[in-house]
Amino acid sequence: IESMESGSRTPEEEQALLEAGRVLAGGGLVAFPTETVYGLGADAGSTEAVERIFAAKGRPSDNPLIVHISDLSQLDDLALRVNDTERALMKAFWPGPLSLVLPVKPGAVSSRVTAGLDTVAVRMPDHPAALALIRAAGCPLAAPSANRSGRPSPTLAGHVLEDLAGAIDGVLDGGPAGVGVESTVVQAGEDGAVTVLRPGGVTAEQLAAVAASVRLDPALTSAAGEAESPAPRSPGMKYTHYAPKGAMCVVQGRDAEAVAARIAAELAAAARRGEVTGVLSFDEHIGRYRADVAVPLGRQAAPEEAARRLYAGLRRFDEAGATFILAEACPEEGLGAAVMNRLLKAAGHRVIDVDL
Ligand code: TXA
Ligand code: MG
Repeated sequence: IESMESGSRTPEEEQALLEAGRVLAGGGLVAFPTETVYGLGADAGSTEAVERIFAAKGRPSDNPLIVHISDLSQLDDLALRVNDTERALMKAFWPGPLSLVLPVKPGAVSSRVTAGLDTVAVRMPDHPAALALIRAAGCPLAAPSANRSGRPSPTLAGHVLEDLAGAIDGVLDGGPAGVGVESTVVQAGEDGAVTVLRPGGVTAEQLAAVAASVRLDPALTSAAGEAESPAPRSPGMKYTHYAPKGAMCVVQGRDAEAVAARIAAELAAAARRGEVTGVLSFDEHIGRYRADVAVPLGRQAAPEEAARRLYAGLRRFDEAGATFILAEACPEEGLGAAVMNRLLKAAGHRVIDVDL
């Protein structure tokens, strides 16, 4: 389905949406495009349907799901209360790639959605197919990214089928996802203080224009925090995600020239050892590297391009059987923060710092 704007949909597209909505209303699983990545949807009120999500993805049951809504009126049934900061964030960024962790109304969604927490993450996606599907289903949709757990999130309908064909009831094909990385997950205090639990499509700079203050959850800034924090505020942060099968490492340093020289040398040494090599690189340096799989991330000054290409690129390493993968670090500004977060996760926080 290419054009999902209401009014410009073909009868076939309308048919597909109605059918997908019926499947969801009946407790089935349908994957659908959003502006971030493809989601795997189920009726958020049905424990049976939500359990099918966890089974299809092989997802740990203590990792809660984001609930997707199409209309603000649906919020009244989900959240116990919404403070002024949260309202301002919704006004500024919805529909869009921002998930708000709100106090959940008891019984509003299956306790499998919240993993037993007293909060629920909610977002209104900025994609006409996603919004139309939620309306067709007639209920809020619990939807994690539509990948097998541990695989890169899907940015194409084909990625969904690679991971989940046979385990789900269908996928709505809306072409490539726009942003390419997941939504930003935040918690917001009455006082205007916003805590970023997961960096994503809405940047810290954008949040700061609306909130009194913005800080990163401390668990985000240390590998140990992510892995070992006894009660991470966003349970998903403790899992290694998106890890390619080969050993991956992020290379960083103050001097871009030194970083590029080190990557070129490490790739050459790995090739001599007989490794199948891969590299994720910004366009400025990619011509210098000899690797079996080279994934160009666009110009370093345009991290939104890197975000769009990242997950499809990570999938290529496994397809090629890469055993040794290096990634260039990027400045953590704008969408660069989300890109670096995902690169470090994919690398299991293994870093070569050329300044050390
Ligand atoms: O862009 C997105 O957010 C995509 C699309 C499909 O909307 N969805 C997505 O869902 O990335 P998932 O399940 O892959 O990631 C959900 C994240 C996890 O890190 C989870 O721990 C966190 O949101 N989360 C969900 N509910 C939460 C809650 N009540 N409190 C804190 N974190 C929560
Ligand atoms: Mg995910």
